[in-house]
Amino acid sequence: MGSLLLGLFLLFILQTSEGQVEFVIPEPGTRVIIEKISTVVSNCTVCVGDSPTCGPKATLTDPQNTKLTFTCPKPQDIFSVEVNRDIDCSKSCAQDTIHPASSILPNFDRFFTWDLKVSPTKAFQLDFPAPGMKQIQSSEQCLDKHTYTIVTYSRAGTVNIGTFCQTGTVSRMQFLWKGRVSLAVPRGTVLNSPDFNYSETIVSSAGSVIADAVLARGMSDSDFFSPTNIPNDYIMKWNFVVPPMHNFTVNFVTYTEPKCQSKVVKVLYQQDNKSPIDKTLADNQLTNYQGNFSLSLTNCEVKKGETPSLFLHFRVSVFRSGTPYLCTVDLQNDKSLRVELEHKTLDSFCELSVDSVVQQAVTVLPGSKALLSFLDCRSDELRLTATKTIECQTLSSCSLAGIPLTVPALDACLPTPLQEVVWVLQMPQGVAIELKAPQGSLKQAGPGQDCFTSMSVLVSEADGSSVGCFSYLGSKGYMDKVQIASNVTVTAVAGATGLSQNGGPFLSVSFSPRISENYIYTMSLSPLAIPSVSLMTPNWPETMKSESTASWIINIPEEYSAELSFLNVSLPSCQERHMEVIVKEMGSEDEISFREDASVPQTFSLSGSFYLNMSNCESAGRFAILSQISLQKKSKKVLSIILGVIGVLLALLLIVLIVVCVIVRKKKRQLTNRSSINMPKGAAFLPGDASFPTARTNNESHVYDYIDDTMVYGHLLNEDGPGHFNGHQVDTYRMFPGSTEPTGVQSEPDRSQADEGDSYRAFLAPSETFLPPRPRSPLGPLNSVGFEDRRMVDNELYTFKNISDQKAINLFDDDRLPPPDVEYDDVF
Ligand SMILES: *[C@@H]1O[C@H](CO)[C@@H](O)[C@H](O)[C@H]1NC(C)=O
Ligand SMILES: *[C@@H]1O[C@H](CO)[C@@H](O)[C@H](O)[C@H]1NC(C)=O
Ligand SMILES: *[C@@H]1O[C@H](CO)[C@@H](O)[C@H](O)[C@H]1NC(C)=O
Ligand SMILES: *[C@@H]1O[C@H](CO)[C@@H](O)[C@H](O)[C@H]1NC(C)=O
Ligand SMILES: *[C@@H]1O[C@H](CO)[C@@H](O)[C@H](O)[C@H]1NC(C)=O
Repeated sequence: MGSLLLGLFLLFILQTSEGQVEFVIPEPGTRVIIEKISTVVSNCTVCVGDSPTCGPKATLTDPQNTKLTFTCPKPQDIFSVEVNRDIDCSKSCAQDTIHPASSILPNFDRFFTWDLKVSPTKAFQLDFPAPGMKQIQSSEQCLDKHTYTIVTYSRAGTVNIGTFCQTGTVSRMQFLWKGRVSLAVPRGTVLNSPDFNYSETIVSSAGSVIADAVLARGMSDSDFFSPTNIPNDYIMKWNFVVPPMHNFTVNFVTYTEPKCQSKVVKVLYQQDNKSPIDKTLADNQLTNYQGNFSLSLTNCEVKKGETPSLFLHFRVSVFRSGTPYLCTVDLQNDKSLRVELEHKTLDSFCELSVDSVVQQAVTVLPGSKALLSFLDCRSDELRLTATKTIECQTLSSCSLAGIPLTVPALDACLPTPLQEVVWVLQMPQGVAIELKAPQGSLKQAGPGQDCFTSMSVLVSEADGSSVGCFSYLGSKGYMDKVQIASNVTVTAVAGATGLSQNGGPFLSVSFSPRISENYIYTMSLSPLAIPSVSLMTPNWPETMKSESTASWIINIPEEYSAELSFLNVSLPSCQERHMEVIVKEMGSEDEISFREDASVPQTFSLSGSFYLNMSNCESAGRFAILSQISLQKKSKKVLSIILGVIGVLLALLLIVLIVVCVIVRKKKRQLTNRSSINMPKGAAFLPGDASFPTARTNNESHVYDYIDDTMVYGHLLNEDGPGHFNGHQVDTYRMFPGSTEPTGVQSEPDRSQADEGDSYRAFLAPSETFLPPRPRSPLGPLNSVGFEDRRMVDNELYTFKNISDQKAINLFDDDRLPPPDVEYDDVF
């Protein structure tokens, strides 16, 4: 509203020895009237501008900066200020607000008055801002010292509609023709008045004055007063909105009945779809009714000159209609169980109280007892949660046998089924928690899978990060156990039917000694139980915690190989040290690892059980890895046939070749005791033992361009293996182009040493995928040149066997062929 800004009155105070000067700018369309307070006797006067005429009253209408001079030193004790505005809806009634100018002469008593007028055939409506206005007796005071009064002018005279304070039940008033709204604010009070909307409306036949009141929820008493000086036949009507699930009762606190010339004073109650109820002032009024209602008070034709006139003070009491339902929750015998009840929605009519005190949420503490009462509570309006604490004080005192996590029994009188159970598992430092399936094996929900199904639980740590969502399979063949080195909570959430005590345990918990990682997931996979398994870093899809470590111990059946794929990898940037992922086959020295500064390999093939270990650095950013393990049957039998056939062919061929070579070499040796052997690259690798493409100990990937005799026959001198040759390594290694080796590969120091001067050929990952298990050959783990030695020198049959192995792989890289009937061992 533009006038709001213009309504700022500039104020200047000049104190002179005998008087005081103030400056005022009236808001356009308002009159500022400075007038002596009627009860004060004083000869002090007010002078406007430089005019010499001073008097007991000054009226300013010009919206200009105007000087006021008071002839006494403290004029606020003698004068008050009225700011008056006319609102004439008979001329124009644009929907607008009533708003007092806030800064006029704040050290004076102020009265803001609005003179309201509509055409005689119309009514005037005032909408009070939420939360409405409260009616008080005219003798009462408002707490915030802002007192509103409404009067209307009838042909019979002024009718005092009532006195109001801010914040109450009355939301709207409507009256005929002409009226005045005024707001009184004493000196020194900062003006704080909400805007009222006013509008012109049609005349209702129901009443000369209509008030709408919205009664609040809960128990309340609201007082209302009839106007004073009510004219003859005048109808005063109150419309009440009563909240659902409440009863109301009307009491007439005091009333005065006029002497009637004709007719009688009538009280009429009306409710929607019900017949009206007529009463007199002396009757008992409505008790324990429900629903919205209206109360009309109609004056009679009063005998002229008789007092008293009609007056009514009545009270509407609202209270809950229902009777509460009681339930005692007794946890005196369970010092580890806590029960909580809370509202699911804010607008519910359900009323929850403990020991007769209404509360939004109730907690019954372990070992205590509470009398709960429920009023109009539907089962679906409340949420019931139980928290059970399982604490291990010291490892020696804790039950190491599994503690089943079952739904605790609660008093059957609770009006809603248990929706959530939280088990808080606590132990001292140096103790770990071990979670197992009560039977069968644990199953972890993969990405995108619903965490809370009927038998699954969320395991999370005290800081809210999750370890995973687990349910269980009836059979073995998935996760055996999860070990966690920190306190955890296990949460089960009810499906549609609520958590039932008969549902059986969710998990079995035990405490174990310290573990080497923060999290260890142990799995014994069975392709029958589950063909492929997703592994997620703890807290997936959020980041695994800084400086935490996780390990998966993956056991796979002997006749299976595994493929480990990294499906979704997000690596952090490390502030200190490095994060690392290590894959290591059990019983093997070889491992592959990568760090945050490396590119991540896609897939690994593993011929047996393995570890997948991950450690996070002190990281900034997200460390989250989703990987997958799928199992494949090793096709021993297929390979056996093929290997057998090809082996025999090659054996024949090689016998011929070797016989030739030996003859040639013997001749050459007579000339020199050094020799060089050219071997076709790529032929010198051994299947079976090849586990990880990038491990440097995989000497089958070494390709020798030139081999010293000492190396060729080295094993004959010393069986100790590669270390023997460290002093004068002459191997030439070449990096395979497009190698899967990440740049961040961590090598053991002795390995890097061995690498010096070597060009090193990484294994071709895909072919490795299909490597058959290593035949039971007498060859040891192929360390360094020992392999080549044996090949060239040892028993020829083994040599052939190895070559045929390798050829077979190159030819048949699909091992999912139908199984032949011949056993591997039968062939060899
Ligand atoms: C007002 O009256 C007092 C005595 O009551 C007198 O002393 C003073 O001069 C008068 N002031 C004016 C402005 O008339
Ligand atoms: C509310 O009113 C109904 C009848 O309208 C009555 O049955 C019920 O007892 C009342 N409730 C209370 C709390 O008095
Ligand atoms: C588990 O919580 C307790 C109490 O808060 C604490 O004393 C203890 O150190 C925590 N245990 C671990 C392993 O963090
Ligand atoms: C990886 O997982 C995150 C979190 O679930 C997801 O937002 C993102 O799309 C995934 N990325 C790929 C490539 O699947
Ligand atoms: C991987 O974790 C397991 C279990 O904690 C541990 O036994 C193994 O030594 C770790 N391996 C590596 C290479 O860190």
